Amino acid sequence: MQLDFSALSPLDAYRWLASSVTPRPIAWVSSRSPEGVANLAPFSFFQVISDNPPTLLVNVNTRDDGSLKDTLRNAQASGELAIQLVSFAQAEAMNASAAVLPHEVSEFEHCAIASVPCERIDVPRVVGAPVTFECRVAQIQPYPAQQPNSHLIFAEVLLAHIDDALLTEQGRLDPLQLDLVGRLGGSAYCRTRDVFNMQRP
Ligand SMILES: Cc1cc2nc3c(=O)[nH]c(=O)nc-3n(C[C@H](O)[C@H](O)[C@H](O)COP(=O)(O)O)c2cc1C
Repeated sequence: MQLDFSALSPLDAYRWLASSVTPRPIAWVSSRSPEGVANLAPFSFFQVISDNPPTLLVNVNTRDDGSLKDTLRNAQASGELAIQLVSFAQAEAMNASAAVLPHEVSEFEHCAIASVPCERIDVPRVVGAPVTFECRVAQIQPYPAQQPNSHLIFAEVLLAHIDDALLTEQGRLDPLQLDLVGRLGGSAYCRTRDVFNMQRP
């Protein structure tokens, strides 16, 4: 079968892309509004795109009614966000934090997710996250240029918090201990526990 993307509706294009480009890591993004409200939401259109400078990319869609998501509004206003990786143990909490709440309501409070302050930025981070990246917003790029329906947030990593329990004796991250959640299509997820090794030629 072949799919002509120019003939697909945006919803169908999303479904085919999201169910084939898998598994996707999930950025669990915390931020703070100018009014001081702590925000938390997951995004699976997410990747590491550069190591020099260390940079992560998150794509935040515009809502169907044209309004901007809180994560984007806060990133635009403050230039700061924290990106946690999501372990299986926190999958349910991550999912709960995707609820659409009024701008002045915090997902941390609504979902009873514990937080502590970041060190380099004025943003709370999730207690128990395996890895949290404290980031400065390097650039926000509306996409596509003609009629943007999303914003690409380029987030430069300033500081990482890594759970010591996830380290090997050599001081590296142990993928089995990390046990991250990956997004598949629809409501399906996977765990990163089926690990094998290959040596490069
Ligand atoms: C696993 C998962 C992945 C998601 N990925 C994205 C994404 O890549 N881009 C996006 O705009 N929304 C994504 N969402 C939806 C947002 O989390 C949702 O719109 C949320 O309400 C945004 O919150 P905010 O307004 O506090 O920023 C995802 C939701 C889930 C559960």
